[in-house]
Amino acid sequence: MAEEAILGFLKNNDEIPHSGEFAVDHDLDHEEVKNVIKSLHGFGYIEAKAVRKEFWDLTDEGKKYAAEGTPEFQFFSAVPEEGTISIDDLRRILDPSVFQVGSTQAPKKKWVVMGNQVSRMVQHVEDKVKDMLLQIQQGLELDKETLKYLKNRQLITCTKTWTGYSDVKKGPNYAPKRKIFPSDLTRENLENWEELELKEYNFNAKGQPLDAGHLHPLLKVRKQFKDIFCQMGFEEMPTNNFVESSFWNFDALFQPQQHPARDSHDTFFLKAPSTTRELPEDYVERVKQVHESGGYGSRGYNYEWKREEANKNLLRTHTTAVSSRMLYALAKGPFTPKKYFSIDRVFRNEAVDRTHLAEFHQVEGLICDRGLTMGDLIGVLQEFFSRLGMSKIRFKPTYNPYTEPSMEISGYDEAKGEWLEIGNSGIFRPEMLQPMGLPDDVRVIAWGLSLERPTMILYDTKNIRDLFGHMVNLKKIKQNRMCRIGIDSA
Ligand code: PHE
Repeated sequence: MAEEAILGFLKNNDEIPHSGEFAVDHDLDHEEVKNVIKSLHGFGYIEAKAVRKEFWDLTDEGKKYAAEGTPEFQFFSAVPEEGTISIDDLRRILDPSVFQVGSTQAPKKKWVVMGNQVSRMVQHVEDKVKDMLLQIQQGLELDKETLKYLKNRQLITCTKTWTGYSDVKKGPNYAPKRKIFPSDLTRENLENWEELELKEYNFNAKGQPLDAGHLHPLLKVRKQFKDIFCQMGFEEMPTNNFVESSFWNFDALFQPQQHPARDSHDTFFLKAPSTTRELPEDYVERVKQVHESGGYGSRGYNYEWKREEANKNLLRTHTTAVSSRMLYALAKGPFTPKKYFSIDRVFRNEAVDRTHLAEFHQVEGLICDRGLTMGDLIGVLQEFFSRLGMSKIRFKPTYNPYTEPSMEISGYDEAKGEWLEIGNSGIFRPEMLQPMGLPDDVRVIAWGLSLERPTMILYDTKNIRDLFGHMVNLKKIKQNRMCRIGIDSA
C-alpha cells in the first residue's frame, strides 16, 4: 500500500517534502511509510533525508525563570546602577535560590564584579535565557547550541522525538513498481523469468546444513573397503555374532589353551551364558587330537586338551573366528574355491589409550583355493592395498598360531615419508584346515587389519576416542568430508 503510494506519487511529482504529512494526506500509517522509504532507499529506488525532531518542555525551574526572569537577571537588577552593594545585603534581599544561582551566573556572564562589595560591569543586560524559555513555551524551534545549553542547566526536557524523512525523490534505480528478486528457482519463477530480475547465482554459497542423518567416518571407510572387496570378487561373511565360543575363536584356529591371549587379562569371557550350547562333536574330536598329538604331518602341542576351555563363551577377539566357521562349513560340501571378507567389531581386554580401545573393527579377507602360494598372498595384498591408495608395501615375518608363514604388512605413507604397520597376514596352517576336512591341497591365504587405523589417518584423528565411544565430537562427525580412498586410487 505505502510502497505503491510512494512510488506512484514520485512518478508524477518531484518530491515528497515530509513523510509525516504524506502519511496523513494518504491515510497511511507513518511507521509503515518510514519502513517502505528505508527499504526503497536501500535498493536505490528513491533518495531521502532522515529527519529527527525533538519536542521540548520547560522543567519546573525553567517555568519559574520564564515567569520571574532568571536568577542572574534578578541578581544583576538588585545591584545599583552606580556604586556598590555588599554581598551580605544581596543575600538578605534575594530569595536564597536566586542568590545562589545568580551569584555564580552573573559574574560568569561578566555582568557584575564580585567581592565583599558587588558592582555592575555593564549598565544594561538582556535576560536572553528567559526569552529562549518563552520561545520554547510557545513551541518555537531553537538551534541546537541553545537547546544544549538549556538542557545542561536543567531548564528544559525532551518530551518526545519524531523521526521521519524529508526530500524524498526518485533514486538512481527508480521504477514505478519494485522489481522482485526471487531467492529460489521455483517452477513458477522460471515460467515468469522475463518479468523477474534474477540475482546472479552465488556458486560459493553453502547450502543449508541438512537436517538428516550423517555417516560416521568409520562407516564411510568401511563402505570403501567393502567396495574394493566386492570389485575384487569377494563375498561378505556373516559376522552378526559378537559372542563366540572359545572353540571357534581359538581352538579351531590351533591356538593352544594355555596361550596368553586366552587369559582373562586379554579376553572378555561371558558370565552368562558362560558356555556354548553345542559344538560339532566329530570335528571337536579332530581338533582335540591335533592339539594333543598332531597329525597331518604335525607333532601337535603335546598337552591335555580340555573341553571346558573350549566351551567358554567370550566376546570374539578377532573376526578370524568367523573365518574358521566359514571354512568348516565350506569343507562340508564338495570343494569350491571362495573369496570371503568381513568388516565387523571385535573385543579385547586392553588398557585404553589414545590409539587403543577395548572394542574396534577388523577388516579381514581370505582366499581359499587349491595350490595357493606365498606368491598369491603377496600379489593379492599388493592389489588390495594399492586399491586403498597404498601401492608401496613391504612384509616382515611374524608369528600367528594359525598361520605359517605369517607376514606383518607395512605401507609407505608418501605424505609423511614413513612406513606404517597396517596389517597382518599368512597362510592358514594344515593343523587348522585339515581337521575341518578340506582337501589337503587346498590352501587358504588370509589377512586382517583394523578399520580404525586407516580411518584415523584419513580423517586426521590423533585420539581414537574422538572417533569412537562416548567422547565423540558429534559436530565433527556430522561435518566429516567424504571418504576418497578407492576413488583417487582406482
Ligand atoms: N586375526 C588376526 C589379528 O587379529 C589377523 C589375521 C587374519 C592374521 C588372517 C592372519 C590371517 O590380527
